Amino acid sequence: MERLDKIISNLGYGSRKDVKSFVKKGLIEVDGVIAKDNGMAVDPEKSSIKINGEEILYRKYIYLMMNKPAGVISATHDNRDETVVDLLEIDHQAFEPFPVGRLDKDTVGLLLLTNDGELNHRLISPKWHVDKVYYAKIDKKVDEKDVIAFKNGVALDDGYKCLEAKLEILSSSDDESEVKITIQEGKFHQVKRMFEAVNKKVTYLKREEFGGLLLDTELEEGEYRELTDDELSLLKSY
Ligand code: URA
Repeated sequence: MERLDKIISNLGYGSRKDVKSFVKKGLIEVDGVIAKDNGMAVDPEKSSIKINGEEILYRKYIYLMMNKPAGVISATHDNRDETVVDLLEIDHQAFEPFPVGRLDKDTVGLLLLTNDGELNHRLISPKWHVDKVYYAKIDKKVDEKDVIAFKNGVALDDGYKCLEAKLEILSSSDDESEVKITIQEGKFHQVKRMFEAVNKKVTYLKREEFGGLLLDTELEEGEYRELTDDELSLLKSY
């Protein structure tokens, strides 16, 4: 059970104060009866709520795909920097979403945000081997030796041996290479540290895929949209 005003404002139909005034005006019905108390307890999964005669569509969870820009932090709050949650509209913030895993401040690309703790847990658990695909620019020539090293699992600076990673070379020259890399883990600065392990530096990093989901190329950096039903089923089937 939840307060009526909280349910309605979380769904983006106005602030709690607005809901109070809707109730005063007799605009809100719960199960066919005009609501008299904006704080009444309602089970939103079972009750029908109407505003001005129109039934509201209740949902508990929200699932967003963002093209994360550089310069923002993958967190819900930060004392200094802007966060990915700050980029969301107030109606979406009302659901209290959080990022699924993290991208570094300077990394761009596909970031999911949700308030579904269970799905989040599954997607970030190393047990589930969720594929993450990154496009990266590297400061040196990347060659077949690196492909093999990544396939065998490189050792990071702290001695951790990575799982097998797929490295595809898109272009390669002495002062810059472009690659695609697929990993199933999400250690802190993982891709950057994997390249450091082979004496190279990542100069640009963009996540293009996560758990079979592709970054929507229509989304500019900083833009986001809700997942479609098909995208959500795909993620949940992981
Ligand atoms: N690996 C990194 O080094 N940084 C990211 O943001 C994601 C993966």
